Amino acid sequence: MTTRRPFVGGNWKMNLTREGAVALARALAGDDPASEALEVALFPAFVHLDAVGATLALARSGLALGAQDCYPEPDGAFTGEVSIPMLGDLSVSAVLVGHSERRHIIGEPDDLVARKCRAVLDAGLTCVLCVGETLDERQAGLTDAVNERQARSALQGADLDDPSRLVVAYEPVWAIGTGRTATPEDAQEAHARLRAVLSDLYDADTAESVRIIYGGSVKPGNAAELFSRPGVDGGLIGGASLDARGFLDICAAARGARAAHGATTP
Ligand code: PGA
Repeated sequence: MTTRRPFVGGNWKMNLTREGAVALARALAGDDPASEALEVALFPAFVHLDAVGATLALARSGLALGAQDCYPEPDGAFTGEVSIPMLGDLSVSAVLVGHSERRHIIGEPDDLVARKCRAVLDAGLTCVLCVGETLDERQAGLTDAVNERQARSALQGADLDDPSRLVVAYEPVWAIGTGRTATPEDAQEAHARLRAVLSDLYDADTAESVRIIYGGSVKPGNAAELFSRPGVDGGLIGGASLDARGFLDICAAARGARAAHGATTP
């Protein structure tokens, strides 16, 4: 039986006003979906972290506060960037690293993603490492090769003394924000391959302990089916995380899938 605690992240991207972010955090904390059975993290914009963190603290919520990015150096002349110690000051406990919008829109290369990944893990925070292929790469049959390259380059040599602090998010780029979703079979297969890469980089026990989650147009209507697949340990939710009711339904689907796995997985 899997002992992995499912993980659901709400990636708010460059959305919401400060007031809207606080209202959403308050609505989610009021019906707190985080528990022993499910880890849930919210990823507001940098400028809303402080207000969202204060809202979660006031509500004594179990929801974790996450950042959408970071810079790997602790301080210095890096105009516009935000360091991990700065995030720590705001009680951030998780960081998205290598999201496809940063790789493909902003132009972040693998080696910068790797430095960020190591810096987040070394700081003792949870690293949500995003990997995934573009449509062209998928059509060229390169899905596994791209996922493997991105995972290996980010994690090679990275210390993973606590595997629960690494979450790998498989996010096919063509499925993000498009309404197109990988089939549950495709997700299951990609996750199994990624777990094999982790096993090779570390060892089988470590690979079994790392959560691998799916992202790309997850909605209340498709979450249960995706999360019910063996090896799919939750999701990273973009558009659908901006609606409190929908996000809570997705969290409920992740809890339900874990209960079902627990009942059936030997
Ligand atoms: P989406 O985004 O749910 O809007 O497709 C997912 C993500 O970018 O993490």
